[in-house]
Amino acid sequence: MPAVVVSHGGQMPEHDGKITFYVIVCVIIAAFGGMLFGYDIGISGGVTAMDDFLMKFFMNVYEKKKRAHEDNYCKYDNEYLQLFTSSLYIAALLASFAASRVCSKFGRRTTLQIGSFFFIVGVALQAGGVNLVMVVFGRIILGCGVGFGNQSVPLFLSELAPARIRGALNICFQLFITIGILIAGIINYFTSNIHPHGWRISLGLAGVPAVILLVGSFAICETPTSLIERKQVDQGKATLKRIRGTDDVTAEFNSIVAACEAARRVKHPFRKLMKPSSRPPLVIAMLLQVFQQFTGINAIMFYAPVLFQTVGFGNNAALLSTVITGLVNVFSTLVSIYTVDRAGRRVLLLEACVQMFITQTVIGVLLLLHLQPTGSLNHAEAIIVVVLVCVFVMGFAWSWGPLGWLIPSETFPLETRTSGFACAVSSNMLFTFIIAQAFLSMLCHMRAGIFFFFAAWILLMGLFTLFFLPETKGVPVDSMVERVWKQHWFWKRYMIDDDENDDDDVVKG
Ligand code: BGC
Repeated sequence: MPAVVVSHGGQMPEHDGKITFYVIVCVIIAAFGGMLFGYDIGISGGVTAMDDFLMKFFMNVYEKKKRAHEDNYCKYDNEYLQLFTSSLYIAALLASFAASRVCSKFGRRTTLQIGSFFFIVGVALQAGGVNLVMVVFGRIILGCGVGFGNQSVPLFLSELAPARIRGALNICFQLFITIGILIAGIINYFTSNIHPHGWRISLGLAGVPAVILLVGSFAICETPTSLIERKQVDQGKATLKRIRGTDDVTAEFNSIVAACEAARRVKHPFRKLMKPSSRPPLVIAMLLQVFQQFTGINAIMFYAPVLFQTVGFGNNAALLSTVITGLVNVFSTLVSIYTVDRAGRRVLLLEACVQMFITQTVIGVLLLLHLQPTGSLNHAEAIIVVVLVCVFVMGFAWSWGPLGWLIPSETFPLETRTSGFACAVSSNMLFTFIIAQAFLSMLCHMRAGIFFFFAAWILLMGLFTLFFLPETKGVPVDSMVERVWKQHWFWKRYMIDDDENDDDDVVKG
């Protein structure tokens, strides 16, 4: 049985209900899942740039780095170093499918608790790591935490939020990701001067939000939708009254019950997802993840310190620049929260494509002309690169970052919403993995050309957005088929009624 997100956009009847203090507490606790994801993204770049860490686990990279004549673009190219960063994402990819089942069968809260448990174990293994196997194994366990967290938190937030602030609350997930990345940057900045165990502190401090998430998860409720879906109807109604701060929840309760019944009629959500009518949201959800990652954002998020060292900053200056880009990331996400329901999705995505295309191209040209394999950029040129990176991050943070998570959560019809969302999460992890694993080798082989590679993708995604991505601002989630897909010049051809063609997927109600 698929899980259910009951969503109502601007045109649907608005259910009464306050934004209760309890909901705010629940949102903050759950968003710690996003923070842990962000912390893991942000911490690895700084740690892999620390000499103590390299000397302990990657002696050959350390020696290469110390050789003055070594090629700038290649000094960090080491598949094991990349494996350290990327192993987390492959684990998260696999875990997200398991998580989607746990989420349906046992609820969002349990999924989150399992996720935080993985986080704590993973952190302990990493911080106490005595050999490479142990730290990579720790990272794989952390990846399971990310898989469980990223599947459950966005759903939890969507189901808990009063309808009218659902979009803004959904972007809180991204906001906490960016805060996690920023905190990681700041911590790395200080721990890089603590020898020889600074890296252990960096990796170990993830334990703080992990413990907060685990302990806090006992204070939060299960979502009413998940309870009702799992036939705990009375408890679901009581929870709904509690989170809405009113006894008058009949309308919302009835709509959840109706949605659960409709969703229950589909026996095999993953098979349903393969039908033509599911193609538009599925193709868009998965392509958004490919595009999000091929902007090159994580080349910067994971490897910013390494990248800034490549263009000539010292260790500390490189980490400080990472903190600056982290701050830009957080504040630009706030812009998205404010504008997404006003300006719309397409405007943000298209504007950002122009901004990101220009910055990636100019960085490429600068490095091509001025960064020789040995030597470094002069101070002014290096500063210009940092500024360009900030402008790039700004564009990503108010568009492809949050919308990569928001759009898949609002475009699937009810019956395929969680299975479709699981496909989006796992695609995200797959392409994050590819970038994490390949970036340093690509930098070594393609040199400045890597920035043109990303620019080419940005051009492609801009064209895709222009022609194939419909605007979903203000459209009630459950009216997407009628008002968006059936009206779209291209996607409308897939809007045939598959239920009549295949009885196997639908239990006739
Ligand atoms: C992406 C991450 C990225 C982060 C940057 C998220 O939306 O999924 O891969 O590192 O944004 O803020």
